[in-house]
Amino acid sequence: MESLNVLVLDDEVGITEKLERHLTRKGFTVFTANRTSEAFEIVRKHSIDIALLDFMIPNDLNGIEVLKRIKAAHPATEVIMVSGQEDIDIVIEAQRQGAIDFVRKPFNFHEILFAIERTGKYVHLLNKLQTVEDQKSLISRELENMIERDFIGTSPVIKKVVDMAMRVARDKDASVLITGENGTGKEIIARIIHYASERKKKIFVPVNSTAIPDTLIESEFFGHKKGAFTDAKEDKKGFFEMANGGTLFLDEIADMPFSIQAKLLRAMEERKITRLGSSVEIAVDIRIISATNKDIEKLIEEEKFRLDLYHRINTFIINIPPLRKRPEDIEPLLNHFVTDLCHKKKLTVPELDKNLIAQLKRYPFPGNVRELRNMVERALILSDGKTLSPDDFALKFDEGHQEQKQSFTSLNLDQNEKLLIETALRETGGNQIKAGELLGISRDALKHRIKKHGITIQRVIE
Ligand SMILES: Nc1ncnc2c1ncn2[C@@H]1O[C@H](COP(=O)(O)OP(=O)(O)OP(=O)(O)O)[C@@H](O)[C@H]1O
Ligand SMILES: [Mg+2]
Repeated sequence: MESLNVLVLDDEVGITEKLERHLTRKGFTVFTANRTSEAFEIVRKHSIDIALLDFMIPNDLNGIEVLKRIKAAHPATEVIMVSGQEDIDIVIEAQRQGAIDFVRKPFNFHEILFAIERTGKYVHLLNKLQTVEDQKSLISRELENMIERDFIGTSPVIKKVVDMAMRVARDKDASVLITGENGTGKEIIARIIHYASERKKKIFVPVNSTAIPDTLIESEFFGHKKGAFTDAKEDKKGFFEMANGGTLFLDEIADMPFSIQAKLLRAMEERKITRLGSSVEIAVDIRIISATNKDIEKLIEEEKFRLDLYHRINTFIINIPPLRKRPEDIEPLLNHFVTDLCHKKKLTVPELDKNLIAQLKRYPFPGNVRELRNMVERALILSDGKTLSPDDFALKFDEGHQEQKQSFTSLNLDQNEKLLIETALRETGGNQIKAGELLGISRDALKHRIKKHGITIQRVIE
């Protein structure tokens, strides 16, 4: 175990010296202060694990104030308060402000040592949990913050995916094609590549061409000059120009209309575009990342996708295997989603039933990680709050499979909201107060939503 840093604050030099000697002998790294200003200085410079604070430093700040300031600036520092006063209000206030323990003065050395060792064990445990948590996320905190997500996994295949993403990130121009079924995390990997590259300060532009009408697609990609066609009332930048300096993410590339594929290829090769209705060439410096869940080679055979474009976009291919092929990732992902969603919904984290993981590992997850996340969200509502059981997940293995896929692979908020409300009402036999509690919303908010979605309530007569 790594040695813990302990700060001792007491106005009596005799006491700080004595504690320093004893605690150093016990393996702690000790810092001492006889004034609160010295204590603040030490806490600022060193990462203090445990602070032992005397409540009464004459002609100085009061102990609660010192405690507050230390906890505010360094929440991870555990504070043990030492006081000569028996006043229970002080003890309560100290606890409220985050002190972990309280020792009465005059103390003997064993009492202090006991309190410090107990706190030390706790600090070590927290550190260990933190390391476990860090290891499961495959990307750095900095990168996580930039993509506003964690990327979780422990299987060798998913580690390889992240490793490849990090490697291609280093080449700022290489085109990347990301393949994988729905919900495997293609878009997250694309973001990871962008934010791990030197283009990270510039924009990441995701484009799903299936969402754009065929007639507009060219002007959306390349922009247009005012008057280029009837609706072109203003000059307009296209995606290529918008993404200049950054990354253009072409999602569902296999569905790109054949008619635009040759123009895309030309823009990628020449690194220049011209807006519709204009003859001025504009240079663009971008990286292209594409994604697909389809078999492009088959589409090439069917002459729906251009071979030359395929060669241009696939300098690097990263394939993300489906979740069922990497069952080791289910447990860390489950833990991550449970903790994350409980945190967001301010719920206590439930225990996991001992059969749950095994059951989930048998399930084929047609909607992959997205499906698992949606399942957890639903299960948290259905569960009794103490344990998450396989029943809460309503895994359907055979004929019900289709229905499962339809209901929970969609990320459509509105649809899922309706579904969750219906489920909560069914579970509570139509009791709106209980259903509202399950959903974590007020009765009025529930009523409003029932009306909005046109939900009919079937009451269970007992
Ligand atoms: N390894 C992972 N760790 C954490 N979350 C993940 C992981 N993989 C996927 N997800 C989550 O699953 C959801 C789907 O991910 P994403 O949108 O990147 O998938 P996709 O492959 O682009 O799916 P589609 O083909 O349906 O567009 C997101 O909410 C994402 O945060
Ligand atoms: Mg996607």
